[in-house]
Amino acid sequence: MRYIELDYANVLPFVSAEEIEVQRKNAQHVLKSLRDGTCRGNDFLGWMNLPVEIGEEDLNRVEICARKLRERTDVVVVVGIGGSYLGAKAVIEAMSDSFAVCDGPRVVFAGNNVSEDYLYELRRYIEHKRFGICVISKSGTTTEPAVAFRLLKEQLERQVGKEAARELIVAITDKEKGALRTLADREGYETFIIPDNVGGRYSVLTPVGLLPVALAGFDIRGLVRGAVDMRARCEEKNADLPMDYASVRNALYQAGFTIEITVNYNPKLHYVGEWWKQLYGESEGKENKGIFPASVDFTTDLHSMGQYIQQGRRDLFETVISVERPRYELVVPEDAENLDKLNFLAGKRIDEVNKMAELGTRMAHVDGGVPNLRVVMPELSEYYLGQLFYFYEMACAISGGLLGVNAFDQPGVEAYKKNMFRLLGKPE
Ligand code: PA5
Repeated sequence: MRYIELDYANVLPFVSAEEIEVQRKNAQHVLKSLRDGTCRGNDFLGWMNLPVEIGEEDLNRVEICARKLRERTDVVVVVGIGGSYLGAKAVIEAMSDSFAVCDGPRVVFAGNNVSEDYLYELRRYIEHKRFGICVISKSGTTTEPAVAFRLLKEQLERQVGKEAARELIVAITDKEKGALRTLADREGYETFIIPDNVGGRYSVLTPVGLLPVALAGFDIRGLVRGAVDMRARCEEKNADLPMDYASVRNALYQAGFTIEITVNYNPKLHYVGEWWKQLYGESEGKENKGIFPASVDFTTDLHSMGQYIQQGRRDLFETVISVERPRYELVVPEDAENLDKLNFLAGKRIDEVNKMAELGTRMAHVDGGVPNLRVVMPELSEYYLGQLFYFYEMACAISGGLLGVNAFDQPGVEAYKKNMFRLLGKPE
């Protein structure tokens, strides 16, 4: 077993080791306040011990439920938004074959938008199919998933009858509060609980992330094992990797680099970038502060955002999530005519081309004034995703503490809801 690695050598031309050290000293206090539970938002620290608190019984229950739904369905619709969606989506996208038909039901998502077209097309897609629903909402009152669930529940009950539908719906929500809890209890759905002390965006290692991942047929034990190992390393080594990442990005922020772009060179990681953006955006962007989190897929976006990154405003830094070993091997073939003049690549692995694109881009961007960090994953597996998630969560909590904000609330999210409800004529 290896650990993911963090390389920030290409940040040092932009901030000094002393500036990073100042942040690291402050980070020691933040880490202590997280560990002794005296930090801001200290009623939401449950994520810290989640990996070691998930027992064999919990994992079994998730797997049994997933097996049952997998046997009875061809499609499972996972309904949720924000933290109740992105972790599972990230793992499933990262682990899925890009083209093969799923071995088991296809897991699709809803409730993460209120697009009439999306919902109409989803309903049309599952019409006459054997489908199930996994509805996830910690508060149990979020509008987007509630609207989607209302439509899907109505369709399922119409297709199979109310009794059979009951057996095909699983709810993941608070143990007692919220409309979803009331509904689930009344209808007799199987339910899983999201612990009180775990916020949505830190919940990927609860049933919120685990059940959809298991429904898609992936290894939740590997995911948890990765997080367990990263947590153990954090215990043993004073959270060295998260401390470094949090300290470096805050040193950069103080030096005027206010936008962080997470970069991948593998489209399977697109949703890891989306998960990361939510984690850091909601945790840090408040009180008129925060590093703005953005993400790009390279080399695709080198042909769009690459221009800006190379020569636009110099307030960006990049963190590349680099996967060392691809899953498969493929080489560039020789071509007798060589009209495209690419025979110099013949016999080289596609991954070598990709890695040189990564290295060449890093050199160009650093030369162009963009500090560069790298998070290296040995391979794309559930295990290393588990490590990555725990690393990023720990670093986010430390980084939020360095900024002086509460990394566990999201008061700003309410503003749009108030207007939307008023405009829609919601009764007081
Ligand atoms: O991180 C958070 O708490 C939020 O992004 C929530 O996950 C999101 O708003 C969904 O909330 P809920 O699970 O209550 O429907």
